[in-house]
Amino acid sequence: MTQDEMKKAAGWAALDYVKKGSIVGVGTGSTVNHFIDALETRKEEIQGAVSSSVASTKRLEEIGIPVLDANEVSSLDIYVDGADEINGEYDMIKGGGAALTREKIVAAIAKQFICIVDDTKQVDVLGQFPLPVEVIPMARSFIGRELVKLGGDPVYREGVVTDNGNIILDVHNMKITKPKELEEQINALPGVVTVGLFAHRGADVLLMGSREGVKKFEK
Ligand code: 5RP
Repeated sequence: MTQDEMKKAAGWAALDYVKKGSIVGVGTGSTVNHFIDALETRKEEIQGAVSSSVASTKRLEEIGIPVLDANEVSSLDIYVDGADEINGEYDMIKGGGAALTREKIVAAIAKQFICIVDDTKQVDVLGQFPLPVEVIPMARSFIGRELVKLGGDPVYREGVVTDNGNIILDVHNMKITKPKELEEQINALPGVVTVGLFAHRGADVLLMGSREGVKKFEK
């Protein structure tokens, strides 16, 4: 079984959590693209989706799922998204696809975060995957210096502009033993839009594709 087949299995398993008549929060990435394919089979039953990126919006609209503005929606039952790493507490690193800020907003609106991954994403300690930080362009050097003080090695993601017009610094060599504290520290730096640590709003359900099938875990 390939990694993509495990992603696909996890993406399709998330369909069980979609309620009739609901608006679904939709994340970004290759695993979510499988979920969007699955959602197409139930599109007549849902009101629509709130999307976390221009890329997912395009994909949803192409298959005829209405995309609502987050400002029109007071609450979502579920938010379905992938992750770059997830630990045993269901804290995550996200933002490999540079959509972290909108992902965090849609996740915050949702009652339940359903994380869909293949089993290569499961880790004991977060940080082997470089931690993405979305930064206002004029703060790039300042934030870089501050991230070095926090023990990381920030690298500018060349050629990437986020959907919000900002840049991404990927922080290498962080062993993240206290995700909530680090999330607070980095978010407090002036010029940081969002850090891709999802610890204060972690996942509630983990659907993990593996060679043995999709493993389901709930908090
Ligand atoms: C995008 C993300 C994605 O969820 C994360 O990068 C996982 O992507 P994939 O499903 O392609 O492995 O956070 O910003």
